[in-house]
Amino acid sequence: MRVCQVEGEWKRENIRISERTLPIPRDGQVRVKISANALNYRDLIIPLRGYGKRMQELPLVMLSDGAGIIDAVGRGVTQVQVGDRVCPVFYQSWLSGAPDNARFRFSLGCEQDGTMADYIVLPADGVCAAPSHLTDVEAATLPTAAVTAWRALVTEGRIKPGDTVLIQGTGGVSLFALQFAKLLGARVIATSSSDQKLAKVHALGADETINYRENEQWGKVAREIAGGTGVDHIIEVGGAGTLEQSLRAIRTGGTISLIGVLAGSDCNVPLGQVVTRHIKLQGITVGSRDDFEAMAKAIAQHKLRPVIDRVFDFGELGMALDYLSSGQHFGKVCIQHDKA
Ligand SMILES: NC(=O)c1ccc[n+]([C@@H]2O[C@H](COP(=O)([O-])OP(=O)(O)OC[C@H]3O[C@@H](n4cnc5c(N)ncnc54)[C@H](OP(=O)(O)O)[C@@H]3O)[C@@H](O)[C@H]2O)c1
Repeated sequence: MRVCQVEGEWKRENIRISERTLPIPRDGQVRVKISANALNYRDLIIPLRGYGKRMQELPLVMLSDGAGIIDAVGRGVTQVQVGDRVCPVFYQSWLSGAPDNARFRFSLGCEQDGTMADYIVLPADGVCAAPSHLTDVEAATLPTAAVTAWRALVTEGRIKPGDTVLIQGTGGVSLFALQFAKLLGARVIATSSSDQKLAKVHALGADETINYRENEQWGKVAREIAGGTGVDHIIEVGGAGTLEQSLRAIRTGGTISLIGVLAGSDCNVPLGQVVTRHIKLQGITVGSRDDFEAMAKAIAQHKLRPVIDRVFDFGELGMALDYLSSGQHFGKVCIQHDKA
């Protein structure tokens, strides 16, 4: 079977398609015939050994997101059966409960082989049913970006109808956050570097939009839009470069979900405000299998469809990564096996 893996030395040019023996599921395991994958920002730094020593030694199969059909099961598997369409869950070691070191031990495409293979064998608990109204490509977008947005807004953020949510940019996590926020009755303020993307995000349901490149004081603008008191939740993907404006935008007692550090990780921000205004700074690193299941129910109930920007073929991962890193995308960049 084909795998797309980093081999030899840690560098982007060493992502290659190779052959491996078809794995056989042992007791309690399932084999999934993968038909689609999705890319995440982390897949740009994984080939550079961006997550350090905790990563699996090379070769490492790329990507954390995928979807496919179970085509074989080992003895004792009762939760799923051959023919079920599933997504592998991001943290194979985090099924439920609060995060801890043991639960962060194994994520796909980092501490263990990822999903960009014709087949993957995992414990039966390591996969979840994909919502049936979605295509394989759409289902493949769920395990990382969508679960992250769900965990931030719902599991940790306890979003309520009528809340105001600010999303930063129009990447995978932020657009899922927009869709979940709207589904749960919230008002959404979206920011982007591009007016064309702002028009698209408005069409997707954002109530208000701000171009963060043209308006450096976007936090003040967002606060005013939110009636002067500030927004309830922020999906913070910028980090150091955006946190100061987020602190201007957030209401007293509001939640900033710190999800990414696209604009830097070391910063000098007025932390006194976090204290005196009782702001929750909540770190988020994806979520558990339980988060996936709760989210998948909501997606199925509301027939929500992920936003797909572009789909590449199995042999085009390098092109797909270049496209992702160019920042032109709006939503998810995906791979479809045997696309032609
Ligand atoms: N902690 C977790 O669990 C978790 C999970 C998934 C992702 N992440 C992290 O979250 C971040 C986003 O991931 P993703 O997969 O959604 O990435 P993505 O699809 O590549 O989206 C990146 C988008 O972020 C926006 N952006 C970039 N710099 C920005 C800035 N300074 N201010 C506001 N927006 C900015 C841009 O939107 P515009 O083009 O519209 O300006 C860009 O298109 C990454 O840092 C990633 O590592 C974390």
